[in-house]
Amino acid sequence: MVTEFNASLQSYNSFGILARAQELIRVSSIEALQALVRTQAFQQSPRMVLGGGSNMVLTGDVKALVLKVELMGKRLLHEDEKGYWVEAMAGENWHDFVTWTLEQGWPGLENLALIPGTVGASPVQNIGAYGVELQDRFDSLEAVDLLTGEVFNLNAAQCAFGYRDSIFKHGQMKQVLVPAVRDSALERRPADRPLEGQDKTLSSNPLPMDWGLGLANRALITRVRFFLPKRWRAVLDYQDLQKKCAEHNNWEPSAQDVFNWVCAIRRDKLPDPKVVGNVGSFFKNPTVSAEQCKDIIAIEPSVVHYPLLDGRFKLAAGWLIDACGWRGKSIGQAGVYDKQALVLINKGGADNPCTGGEVMTLARAIQTSVYERFGILLEPEPLVL
Ligand code: EPU
Repeated sequence: MVTEFNASLQSYNSFGILARAQELIRVSSIEALQALVRTQAFQQSPRMVLGGGSNMVLTGDVKALVLKVELMGKRLLHEDEKGYWVEAMAGENWHDFVTWTLEQGWPGLENLALIPGTVGASPVQNIGAYGVELQDRFDSLEAVDLLTGEVFNLNAAQCAFGYRDSIFKHGQMKQVLVPAVRDSALERRPADRPLEGQDKTLSSNPLPMDWGLGLANRALITRVRFFLPKRWRAVLDYQDLQKKCAEHNNWEPSAQDVFNWVCAIRRDKLPDPKVVGNVGSFFKNPTVSAEQCKDIIAIEPSVVHYPLLDGRFKLAAGWLIDACGWRGKSIGQAGVYDKQALVLINKGGADNPCTGGEVMTLARAIQTSVYERFGILLEPEPLVL
Protein backbone atom coordinates (compact mmCIF):
# COMPACT_ATOMS: atom_id res chain seq x y z
CA MET A 1 0.00 0.00 0.00
CA VAL A 2 1.35 3.40 -0.98
CA THR A 3 1.47 6.23 1.56
CA GLU A 4 0.73 9.75 0.33
CA PHE A 5 1.98 12.57 2.53
CA ASN A 6 0.19 15.90 2.92
CA ALA A 7 -2.64 14.53 0.78
CA SER A 8 -5.56 16.73 -0.24
CA LEU A 9 -8.90 15.59 1.19
CA GLN A 10 -11.02 18.02 -0.84
CA SER A 11 -12.37 15.41 -3.23
CA TYR A 12 -12.78 12.87 -0.43
CA ASN A 13 -15.30 14.83 1.65
CA SER A 14 -18.70 15.54 0.13
CA PHE A 15 -18.74 19.13 1.46
CA GLY A 16 -15.66 19.75 -0.71
CA ILE A 17 -13.87 21.46 2.19
CA LEU A 18 -10.16 22.14 1.68
CA ALA A 19 -8.12 20.10 4.15
CA ARG A 20 -5.07 17.88 4.09
CA ALA A 21 -4.18 14.59 5.69
CA GLN A 22 -0.76 14.21 7.23
CA GLU A 23 -0.62 10.73 5.67
CA LEU A 24 -3.14 8.88 3.50
CA ILE A 25 -3.17 5.17 2.71
CA ARG A 26 -5.61 3.56 0.26
CA VAL A 27 -6.82 0.26 1.65
CA SER A 28 -7.54 -2.15 -1.22
CA SER A 29 -6.60 -5.45 0.42
CA ILE A 30 -7.56 -6.88 3.80
CA GLU A 31 -4.29 -8.80 4.11
CA ALA A 32 -2.22 -5.68 3.40
CA LEU A 33 -4.29 -3.77 5.97
CA GLN A 34 -3.70 -6.48 8.58
CA ALA A 35 0.04 -6.37 7.92
CA LEU A 36 0.01 -2.57 8.26
CA VAL A 37 -2.00 -2.65 11.51
CA ARG A 38 0.52 -5.06 13.04
CA THR A 39 3.43 -2.66 12.55
CA GLN A 40 4.71 -0.60 15.45
CA ALA A 41 4.61 2.59 13.36
CA PHE A 42 0.87 2.14 12.78
CA GLN A 43 0.13 1.45 16.44
CA GLN A 44 2.03 4.59 17.44
CA SER A 45 0.18 6.80 15.00
CA PRO A 46 -3.22 8.46 15.40
CA ARG A 47 -5.53 7.37 12.59
CA MET A 48 -8.90 7.92 10.98
CA VAL A 49 -11.02 5.73 8.73
CA LEU A 50 -12.46 7.44 5.65
CA GLY A 51 -15.30 5.98 3.60
CA GLY A 52 -17.09 8.21 1.12
CA GLY A 53 -16.54 11.29 3.31
CA SER A 54 -20.26 12.00 3.09
CA ASN A 55 -20.91 12.33 6.78
CA MET A 56 -18.12 14.49 8.14
CA VAL A 57 -17.09 18.12 8.55
CA LEU A 58 -13.36 18.80 8.37
CA THR A 59 -12.51 21.82 10.51
CA GLY A 60 -8.79 21.69 9.78
CA ASP A 61 -6.03 19.45 8.49
CA VAL A 62 -6.17 15.91 9.79
CA LYS A 63 -3.09 15.24 11.86
CA ALA A 64 -3.48 11.51 11.56
CA LEU A 65 -2.98 8.61 9.25
CA VAL A 66 -6.11 8.51 7.10
CA LEU A 67 -7.17 5.05 5.92
CA LYS A 68 -9.17 5.49 2.72
CA VAL A 69 -11.25 2.37 2.23
CA GLU A 70 -11.13 1.16 -1.39
CA LEU A 71 -12.09 -2.50 -0.94
CA MET A 72 -14.24 -3.42 -3.95
CA GLY A 73 -16.54 -6.26 -4.98
CA LYS A 74 -20.10 -7.50 -4.52
CA ARG A 75 -21.68 -10.93 -4.78
CA LEU A 76 -24.61 -13.17 -3.94
CA LEU A 77 -23.64 -15.34 -0.97
CA HIS A 78 -26.67 -17.54 -0.72
CA GLU A 79 -30.20 -17.90 -2.01
CA ASP A 80 -33.01 -20.07 -0.70
CA GLU A 81 -36.80 -19.97 -0.56
CA LYS A 82 -36.63 -17.17 2.06
CA GLY A 83 -34.45 -14.71 0.21
CA TYR A 84 -31.06 -13.50 -0.94
CA TRP A 85 -27.98 -12.93 1.16
CA VAL A 86 -25.87 -10.34 -0.64
CA GLU A 87 -22.45 -9.02 0.28
CA ALA A 88 -20.65 -5.86 -0.78
CA MET A 89 -17.15 -4.72 0.04
CA ALA A 90 -16.85 -1.52 2.04
CA GLY A 91 -15.44 0.68 -0.72
CA GLU A 92 -18.38 0.13 -3.09
CA ASN A 93 -20.53 3.17 -3.77
CA TRP A 94 -23.85 2.79 -1.89
CA HIS A 95 -26.17 3.96 -4.66
CA ASP A 96 -24.42 1.81 -7.30
CA PHE A 97 -24.82 -1.19 -4.99
CA VAL A 98 -28.56 -0.50 -4.56
CA THR A 99 -28.92 -0.13 -8.35
CA TRP A 100 -27.07 -3.43 -8.92
CA THR A 101 -29.25 -5.40 -6.45
CA LEU A 102 -32.39 -4.23 -8.28
CA GLU A 103 -30.87 -5.10 -11.66
CA GLN A 104 -30.29 -8.62 -10.34
CA GLY A 105 -33.96 -8.84 -9.32
CA TRP A 106 -33.32 -8.63 -5.56
CA PRO A 107 -35.66 -5.98 -4.13
CA GLY A 108 -35.42 -4.45 -0.67
CA LEU A 109 -32.98 -1.53 -0.81
CA GLU A 110 -34.97 0.71 -3.18
CA ASN A 111 -36.06 3.22 -0.49
CA LEU A 112 -32.38 3.82 0.25
CA ALA A 113 -31.51 4.89 -3.31
CA LEU A 114 -29.25 7.90 -3.92
CA ILE A 115 -27.93 8.13 -0.35
CA PRO A 116 -24.37 9.37 -0.83
CA GLY A 117 -21.41 7.48 0.56
CA THR A 118 -19.99 3.98 0.58
CA VAL A 119 -21.31 0.59 1.65
CA GLY A 120 -18.76 0.51 4.49
CA ALA A 121 -20.06 3.78 5.93
CA SER A 122 -23.73 2.73 5.71
CA PRO A 123 -23.88 0.82 9.03
CA VAL A 124 -21.93 3.50 10.91
CA GLN A 125 -24.86 5.89 10.94
CA ASN A 126 -27.51 3.27 10.12
CA ILE A 127 -28.57 5.20 7.02
CA GLY A 128 -32.28 5.52 6.51
CA ALA A 129 -34.82 7.10 4.21
CA TYR A 130 -38.51 6.83 3.32
CA GLY A 131 -39.42 4.34 6.01
CA VAL A 132 -36.47 1.94 5.68
CA GLU A 133 -33.28 1.87 7.72
CA LEU A 134 -30.16 -0.09 6.93
CA GLN A 135 -30.79 -2.26 9.99
CA ASP A 136 -34.02 -3.54 8.39
CA ARG A 137 -32.03 -5.23 5.59
CA PHE A 138 -28.77 -5.88 7.43
CA ASP A 139 -27.43 -9.36 8.10
CA SER A 140 -23.90 -8.88 9.40
CA LEU A 141 -20.60 -7.21 8.72
CA GLU A 142 -16.92 -7.96 8.83
CA ALA A 143 -14.33 -5.59 10.22
CA VAL A 144 -10.63 -5.47 11.04
CA ASP A 145 -9.63 -4.62 14.59
CA LEU A 146 -7.21 -1.71 14.25
CA LEU A 147 -5.43 -2.69 17.47
CA THR A 148 -4.71 -6.32 16.66
CA GLY A 149 -5.27 -6.74 12.92
CA GLU A 150 -7.76 -9.53 13.65
CA VAL A 151 -10.84 -9.90 11.48
CA PHE A 152 -14.17 -10.16 13.31
CA ASN A 153 -17.88 -10.26 12.48
CA LEU A 154 -20.83 -8.47 14.04
CA ASN A 155 -24.52 -9.23 13.73
CA ALA A 156 -27.23 -6.56 13.94
CA ALA A 157 -27.61 -6.76 17.72
CA GLN A 158 -23.86 -6.36 18.20
CA CYS A 159 -23.88 -3.27 15.97
CA ALA A 160 -26.35 -1.68 18.44
CA PHE A 161 -28.19 0.19 15.71
CA GLY A 162 -30.28 3.19 16.66
CA TYR A 163 -31.64 6.18 14.77
CA ARG A 164 -28.59 7.33 12.74
CA ASP A 165 -26.48 5.53 15.31
CA SER A 166 -24.41 2.39 15.90
CA ILE A 167 -21.56 1.00 17.99
CA PHE A 168 -19.18 2.57 15.43
CA LYS A 169 -20.11 6.08 16.55
CA HIS A 170 -19.23 5.55 20.19
CA GLY A 171 -16.10 5.30 22.31
CA GLN A 172 -12.45 5.38 21.32
CA MET A 173 -12.79 8.70 19.43
CA LYS A 174 -9.73 10.01 21.25
CA GLN A 175 -7.57 7.92 18.97
CA VAL A 176 -8.04 10.42 16.16
CA LEU A 177 -5.91 12.81 18.17
CA VAL A 178 -3.97 10.65 20.57
CA PRO A 179 -1.80 7.76 19.39
CA ALA A 180 -3.33 4.40 20.23
CA VAL A 181 -1.45 2.45 22.89
CA ARG A 182 -1.12 -1.22 22.14
CA ASP A 183 -2.70 -3.28 24.90
CA SER A 184 -0.55 -6.35 25.37
CA ALA A 185 -3.17 -7.89 27.62
CA LEU A 186 -5.72 -7.79 24.83
CA GLU A 187 -7.07 -11.25 24.39
CA ARG A 188 -6.36 -12.58 20.90
CA ARG A 189 -9.22 -14.27 19.11
CA PRO A 190 -9.02 -16.67 16.18
CA ALA A 191 -9.15 -15.02 12.77
CA ASP A 192 -12.31 -15.02 10.76
CA ARG A 193 -13.09 -17.86 8.40
CA PRO A 194 -14.13 -17.18 4.82
CA LEU A 195 -17.84 -17.18 4.14
CA GLU A 196 -17.72 -19.28 0.98
CA GLY A 197 -20.06 -22.24 1.30
CA GLN A 198 -21.25 -21.09 4.70
CA ASP A 199 -24.97 -21.44 5.23
CA LYS A 200 -27.48 -18.86 6.45
CA THR A 201 -25.91 -17.81 9.72
CA LEU A 202 -23.29 -15.45 8.48
CA SER A 203 -22.33 -13.62 11.60
CA SER A 204 -21.06 -15.90 14.31
CA ASN A 205 -17.42 -14.89 14.68
CA PRO A 206 -16.08 -13.28 17.83
CA LEU A 207 -15.53 -9.59 18.35
CA PRO A 208 -12.84 -7.83 20.36
CA MET A 209 -13.08 -8.54 24.09
CA ASP A 210 -12.32 -4.99 25.13
CA TRP A 211 -14.65 -3.07 22.85
CA GLY A 212 -16.12 -1.37 25.91
CA LEU A 213 -18.66 1.26 24.99
CA GLY A 214 -17.90 1.46 21.33
CA LEU A 215 -15.78 0.75 18.29
CA ALA A 216 -15.33 4.27 16.91
CA ASN A 217 -11.96 4.47 15.22
CA ARG A 218 -11.18 1.02 16.52
CA ALA A 219 -12.67 -0.99 13.67
CA LEU A 220 -12.40 -0.69 9.91
CA ILE A 221 -15.48 -2.20 8.27
CA THR A 222 -14.40 -4.37 5.34
CA ARG A 223 -17.66 -5.92 4.05
CA VAL A 224 -21.37 -5.70 4.76
CA ARG A 225 -23.94 -8.46 4.21
CA PHE A 226 -27.63 -7.92 3.60
CA PHE A 227 -30.65 -10.19 3.73
CA LEU A 228 -33.26 -9.33 1.09
CA PRO A 229 -36.39 -11.41 1.66
CA LYS A 230 -38.28 -12.90 -1.31
CA ARG A 231 -41.59 -12.00 0.35
CA TRP A 232 -41.04 -8.40 -0.64
CA ARG A 233 -43.56 -5.67 0.00
CA ALA A 234 -43.14 -2.05 -1.06
CA VAL A 235 -42.67 0.34 1.90
CA LEU A 236 -44.85 3.29 0.95
CA ASP A 237 -45.81 4.77 4.32
CA TYR A 238 -44.05 8.10 3.77
CA GLN A 239 -46.24 10.92 2.55
CA ASP A 240 -43.92 11.69 -0.36
CA LEU A 241 -44.29 8.11 -1.64
CA GLN A 242 -48.05 8.13 -1.09
CA LYS A 243 -48.16 11.23 -3.30
CA LYS A 244 -46.21 9.39 -6.02
CA CYS A 245 -48.67 6.46 -5.88
CA ALA A 246 -51.54 8.89 -6.35
CA GLU A 247 -49.74 10.88 -9.07
CA HIS A 248 -49.05 7.68 -11.07
CA ASN A 249 -52.30 6.01 -10.02
CA ASN A 250 -50.13 3.03 -9.14
CA TRP A 251 -50.79 1.58 -5.68
CA GLU A 252 -48.84 -1.62 -6.29
CA PRO A 253 -45.52 -0.31 -7.55
CA SER A 254 -42.58 -2.59 -8.34
CA ALA A 255 -39.27 -2.15 -6.48
CA GLN A 256 -37.96 -0.40 -9.60
CA ASP A 257 -40.90 2.04 -9.50
CA VAL A 258 -40.17 2.83 -5.84
CA PHE A 259 -36.48 3.27 -6.68
CA ASN A 260 -37.35 5.71 -9.49
CA TRP A 261 -39.73 7.65 -7.25
CA VAL A 262 -37.24 7.88 -4.38
CA CYS A 263 -34.58 9.15 -6.82
CA ALA A 264 -37.03 11.75 -8.17
CA ILE A 265 -38.07 12.90 -4.66
CA ARG A 266 -34.47 13.19 -3.52
CA ARG A 267 -33.35 15.01 -6.68
CA ASP A 268 -36.21 17.44 -6.15
CA LYS A 269 -35.44 18.44 -2.56
CA LEU A 270 -31.84 17.46 -1.84
CA PRO A 271 -28.73 18.87 -3.52
CA ASP A 272 -26.53 16.46 -5.49
CA PRO A 273 -23.21 16.41 -3.58
CA LYS A 274 -21.37 16.13 -6.92
CA VAL A 275 -22.74 19.56 -7.83
CA VAL A 276 -23.30 21.30 -4.47
CA GLY A 277 -21.21 20.09 -1.52
CA ASN A 278 -23.25 18.81 1.44
CA VAL A 279 -23.54 15.93 3.89
CA GLY A 280 -27.29 15.29 3.69
CA SER A 281 -29.28 16.11 6.81
CA PHE A 282 -27.01 18.11 9.09
CA PHE A 283 -29.03 17.49 12.27
CA LYS A 284 -30.93 14.51 13.59
CA ASN A 285 -34.69 14.81 13.96
CA PRO A 286 -35.16 15.33 17.73
CA THR A 287 -37.55 13.37 19.90
CA VAL A 288 -39.53 14.97 22.74
CA SER A 289 -41.96 13.83 25.43
CA ALA A 290 -45.72 14.16 24.85
CA GLU A 291 -45.80 17.16 27.27
CA GLN A 292 -42.96 18.94 25.46
CA CYS A 293 -44.67 18.30 22.16
CA LYS A 294 -47.89 19.83 23.51
CA ASP A 295 -45.97 22.92 24.68
CA ILE A 296 -44.41 23.33 21.24
CA ILE A 297 -47.76 22.91 19.49
CA ALA A 298 -49.05 25.69 21.76
CA ILE A 299 -46.31 28.01 20.39
CA GLU A 300 -46.52 26.76 16.79
CA PRO A 301 -49.64 24.72 15.97
CA SER A 302 -48.25 23.70 12.56
CA VAL A 303 -45.09 22.01 13.91
CA VAL A 304 -44.43 18.76 11.99
CA HIS A 305 -44.50 15.92 14.53
CA TYR A 306 -44.84 12.16 14.36
CA PRO A 307 -45.92 9.89 17.24
CA LEU A 308 -43.43 7.16 18.20
CA LEU A 309 -44.28 3.74 19.62
CA ASP A 310 -42.96 4.66 23.08
CA GLY A 311 -45.35 7.62 23.49
CA ARG A 312 -42.73 10.20 22.57
CA PHE A 313 -42.85 12.38 19.44
CA LYS A 314 -40.34 12.94 16.67
CA LEU A 315 -40.14 16.50 15.36
CA ALA A 316 -38.94 17.50 11.88
CA ALA A 317 -35.67 19.35 12.48
CA GLY A 318 -35.97 20.85 8.98
CA TRP A 319 -39.29 22.38 9.94
CA LEU A 320 -37.89 23.83 13.22
CA ILE A 321 -34.94 25.40 11.37
CA ASP A 322 -37.22 26.70 8.65
CA ALA A 323 -39.56 28.19 11.28
CA CYS A 324 -36.59 30.11 12.68
CA GLY A 325 -36.06 31.69 9.28
CA TRP A 326 -32.83 29.98 8.30
CA ARG A 327 -33.76 28.63 4.90
CA GLY A 328 -31.49 30.19 2.24
CA LYS A 329 -29.36 32.07 4.82
CA SER A 330 -25.57 31.77 4.94
CA ILE A 331 -22.42 32.51 6.90
CA GLY A 332 -19.41 32.98 4.63
CA GLN A 333 -19.62 30.25 2.00
CA ALA A 334 -21.65 27.90 4.21
CA GLY A 335 -25.37 28.10 3.54
CA VAL A 336 -28.74 26.59 4.39
CA TYR A 337 -30.21 24.86 1.32
CA ASP A 338 -33.21 26.75 0.05
CA LYS A 339 -35.35 23.67 -0.67
CA GLN A 340 -34.64 21.82 2.61
CA ALA A 341 -33.47 23.69 5.70
CA LEU A 342 -31.99 20.54 7.27
CA VAL A 343 -29.22 20.51 4.68
CA LEU A 344 -26.20 22.79 4.94
CA ILE A 345 -24.32 23.42 1.71
CA ASN A 346 -21.01 24.62 0.37
CA LYS A 347 -21.95 27.69 -1.67
CA GLY A 348 -18.44 28.32 -2.96
CA GLY A 349 -17.96 25.17 -5.06
CA ALA A 350 -14.51 23.66 -5.50
CA ASP A 351 -12.73 26.95 -6.23
CA ASN A 352 -13.82 28.96 -3.23
CA PRO A 353 -15.20 26.38 -0.80
CA CYS A 354 -16.66 27.01 2.63
CA THR A 355 -14.44 26.16 5.57
CA GLY A 356 -15.35 23.70 8.29
CA GLY A 357 -15.30 26.69 10.67
CA GLU A 358 -17.99 28.46 8.62
CA VAL A 359 -20.13 25.33 8.57
CA MET A 360 -19.85 24.93 12.34
CA THR A 361 -20.48 28.63 13.00
CA LEU A 362 -23.66 28.36 10.93
CA ALA A 363 -24.63 25.10 12.65
CA ARG A 364 -24.17 26.65 16.12
CA ALA A 365 -26.17 29.75 15.16
CA ILE A 366 -29.01 27.47 14.00
CA GLN A 367 -28.80 25.43 17.20
CA THR A 368 -29.02 28.61 19.27
CA SER A 369 -32.09 29.93 17.41
CA VAL A 370 -33.94 26.62 17.64
CA TYR A 371 -33.04 26.29 21.31
CA GLU A 372 -34.17 29.81 22.15
CA ARG A 373 -37.46 29.41 20.30
CA PHE A 374 -38.41 25.80 21.08
CA GLY A 375 -36.13 24.68 23.94
CA ILE A 376 -34.68 21.89 21.79
CA LEU A 377 -30.96 21.36 21.26
CA LEU A 378 -30.45 19.92 17.77
CA GLU A 379 -27.80 17.24 17.56
CA PRO A 380 -25.53 17.29 14.50
CA GLU A 381 -25.54 14.13 12.41
CA PRO A 382 -22.06 14.22 10.82
CA LEU A 383 -18.80 13.62 12.56
CA VAL A 384 -16.98 16.90 13.21
CA LEU A 385 -13.20 16.57 12.93
N1 EPU B 1 -39.74 20.71 6.38
C1 EPU B 1 -40.00 22.05 6.39
N2 EPU B 1 -39.02 22.90 5.97
C2 EPU B 1 -37.81 22.47 5.55
C3 EPU B 1 -37.53 21.09 5.58
C4 EPU B 1 -38.53 20.22 6.00
O1 EPU B 1 -41.09 22.50 6.76
O2 EPU B 1 -36.99 23.30 5.18
C5 EPU B 1 -40.80 19.77 6.77
C6 EPU B 1 -41.30 19.01 5.53
O3 EPU B 1 -42.31 19.70 4.87
C7 EPU B 1 -41.81 17.73 6.13
C8 EPU B 1 -40.93 17.53 7.34
O4 EPU B 1 -40.29 18.78 7.61
O5 EPU B 1 -43.14 17.87 6.55
C9 EPU B 1 -39.90 16.44 7.13
O6 EPU B 1 -39.10 16.72 5.99
P1 EPU B 1 -38.59 15.56 5.01
O7 EPU B 1 -39.74 14.68 4.61
O8 EPU B 1 -37.81 16.21 3.92
O9 EPU B 1 -37.69 14.63 5.88
P2 EPU B 1 -36.63 14.97 7.03
O10 EPU B 1 -37.22 14.54 8.32
O11 EPU B 1 -36.18 16.36 6.92
C10 EPU B 1 -35.48 12.64 7.00
C11 EPU B 1 -34.07 12.14 6.98
C12 EPU B 1 -33.53 12.15 5.55
C13 EPU B 1 -34.41 11.27 4.69
C14 EPU B 1 -35.86 11.78 4.77
C15 EPU B 1 -36.83 10.83 4.08
C16 EPU B 1 -33.11 12.64 9.14
C17 EPU B 1 -32.21 13.54 9.91
N3 EPU B 1 -33.25 12.95 7.84
O12 EPU B 1 -35.44 14.00 6.62
O13 EPU B 1 -32.24 11.59 5.57
O14 EPU B 1 -33.97 11.27 3.33
O15 EPU B 1 -36.30 11.85 6.13
O16 EPU B 1 -36.89 9.64 4.80
O17 EPU B 1 -33.67 11.69 9.69
C18 EPU B 1 -29.91 12.12 5.76
O18 EPU B 1 -29.92 11.52 6.83
O19 EPU B 1 -28.87 12.64 5.28
C19 EPU B 1 -31.17 12.25 5.01
C20 EPU B 1 -31.24 12.99 3.90
